[in-house]
Amino acid sequence: MKKVFLLILITLFTFLFSSLLIGQNISGSAHDFSSDSWNTTGQICIVCHTTHNSDVTVANAPLWNHQSTAATFTPYSSASIHASTGDPDASSKLCLSCHDGTVAVDNFGSQTTGTQFITGSSLIGTDLNDDHPVSFTYDQALATNDGGLFDRLEYCLLL
Ligand code: HEC
Ligand code: HEC
Repeated sequence: MKKVFLLILITLFTFLFSSLLIGQNISGSAHDFSSDSWNTTGQICIVCHTTHNSDVTVANAPLWNHQSTAATFTPYSSASIHASTGDPDASSKLCLSCHDGTVAVDNFGSQTTGTQFITGSSLIGTDLNDDHPVSFTYDQALATNDGGLFDRLEYCLLL
């Protein structure tokens, strides 16, 4: 009986996640810059990715073609947090290369003098203290230390 339940659970998760993945399109999203006048290439992925001469200065950057951010951030801190939050890293830095507002959205390829800066509610800025904490290790040790968090595997087993 337990095995059947587990099988149903796995099937359910597979369906759930496959539909989520299929739904993740850049085309038509807020990140579709293919028809913006400043993107004279008309291409959709090129604002962030390139197949040649990519920027390898940011860890885990996937064929990165956007000018990376060199901003100094105020990291998230709180008296009640158990995670160690330092400077943003890896993919968080890639997102911030537009969303911190210091690098122009049209600074891709070798362009570094773009004029399209993010404004409004999508502008996170360099002060991350009023945002959700990012770039910290979420593991069993943190879950145990916090007491209110669950390790992902532990959470699945609880279901
Ligand atoms: C607005 C910027 C942006 C655009 C536009 C964009 N991507 Fe990405 N892409 C990213 C970022 C950031 C990541 C890294 C995400 C992470 O590490 O969690 C990524 C990751 C990827 C990865 C995973 C690479 C790996 O090694 O895991 C693939 C594949 C990819 N993008 C393909 C595409 C394709 C194809 C397009 C065009 C249809 C596209 N992307 C458009 C920002 C973008
Ligand atoms: C090339 C620049 C660029 C990069 C890199 C980038 N974004 Fe964006 N993002 C934008 C712009 C421009 C908008 C639209 C802003 C607006 O409409 O005011 C946006 C909008 C968003 C929105 C709001 C979407 C909506 O429908 O309103 C979210 C959420 C977001 N980005 C998350 C991310 C995340 C997460 C990453 C990294 C994986 C990322 N962005 C990387 C430029 C970028």
